[in-house]
Amino acid sequence: MKIAISIGTRPEIIKMSPVIKELQRRKINFILIHTNQHYDKELDDVFFQELNLPKPDYELHPDSLEDHSHQIGNIMIRIEDVFRKEKPDLLLVQGDTNSVLASALIASKLNIKIGHVEAGLRSYDQTMPEEVNRRLTDHMSDFLFAVTSTQEEILLEEGISKEKVFVVGNTVVDALVNSNIENVDKEELLKKYNLKAKDFFVFTAHRASNVDAAEDLEELLRCLRILTNYKKVIWPIHPRTERSLNKFGLDIPAEVLVTKPLGYIEFLSLIEKSSMVVTDSGGLQEESCILKVPCITLRENTERPESVEIGSNIVVGRNVKKLQAAIEQFINSTPHWTSPFGDGMSAKRIVDLIEEKSNAKKAI
Ligand code: UD1
Ligand code: UDP
Repeated sequence: MKIAISIGTRPEIIKMSPVIKELQRRKINFILIHTNQHYDKELDDVFFQELNLPKPDYELHPDSLEDHSHQIGNIMIRIEDVFRKEKPDLLLVQGDTNSVLASALIASKLNIKIGHVEAGLRSYDQTMPEEVNRRLTDHMSDFLFAVTSTQEEILLEEGISKEKVFVVGNTVVDALVNSNIENVDKEELLKKYNLKAKDFFVFTAHRASNVDAAEDLEELLRCLRILTNYKKVIWPIHPRTERSLNKFGLDIPAEVLVTKPLGYIEFLSLIEKSSMVVTDSGGLQEESCILKVPCITLRENTERPESVEIGSNIVVGRNVKKLQAAIEQFINSTPHWTSPFGDGMSAKRIVDLIEEKSNAKKAI
């Protein structure tokens, strides 16, 4: 079975890395395609270096990534050429970005089988671009690698056949376990940012619903100001958010420590040493849970309800009262939950399944 892997953004690089490593470990051939949806060093190269990933075999470098149509359309046009040349039997994608949708759509047109890593997540918010992407990708896929039985149930309820769905956990755990953050000199790291352990919040924001409109971003900054009443705040800023702040002429409160997007190991180490994570990121809701750091989610909903159910995550939107209540609830509490996101063996299970299916095909 000839495998192609398509990745395009920061979280895809991170969460697909354990699968890439497992394929390498078993000496299974694959081609790696980078859509270059993310292209800045801080959102791209740094993760290839830190995670010791191979250079992509193909980089698509679309002419324009402006807006959904250019992003999805240009990636589709370029990836079709690669698929026609390489003729893979199986495409692996991870998550819910425009890169995922574009890659899967062309694979489906060319009758290439699709394996979707992190299948079955639903926020049930159709205004979210990611919700449309993940739903469509799931329904085009042949192998749906679901995180927990909750996602499996969602997929079965949507009419997807049980034979296609495999509960494997989330590769975010594998990536985190392999990051070896226990070897990081945390004292040095905290000194670098003038922070004290468990005495600061990590803040991130990049969702379109929070940062694309001036009034939403102003509300988000109001939430940020609330955080500074409690503790120091470090904010590694996403380029989308930086662009909006500049466009609308909005200022970040002076006391917030703003940095460029950070490398994975440094970032995870800071989360581990923080008192709380306040975010609209999907991956951070999982990583904070795994690292036993409370998370407050600045969204109206989440596709990671398990984290809310076990008490590691509170969803508050941009509601200041709810935010304050969540901070008060978490600030002096001791984390007591067990992560539902898996055991760090997800990539192994995914590659086992791929090998099993490919051997079954050979035997026919
Ligand atoms: C994308 C994904 C989102 C994911 C996020 C991870 C979609 C619809 N969105 O959102 O699901 O959570 O990645 O971070 O696929 N930019 C740069 N440099 C870069 C990349 C982007 O400056 O390397 C700027 C550009 O101005 C660009 C904007 O950020 O227009 C948004 O980038 P885009 O990839 O469209 O969306 P993200 O917000 O990154
Ligand atoms: N991340 C990072 N540096 C940062 C911010 C995030 O390495 O400055 C990592 C984080 O640990 C997680 C992933 O990027 O693994 C999450 O990416 P993002 O929040 O952009 O996307 P989402 O998970 O919301 O799709």
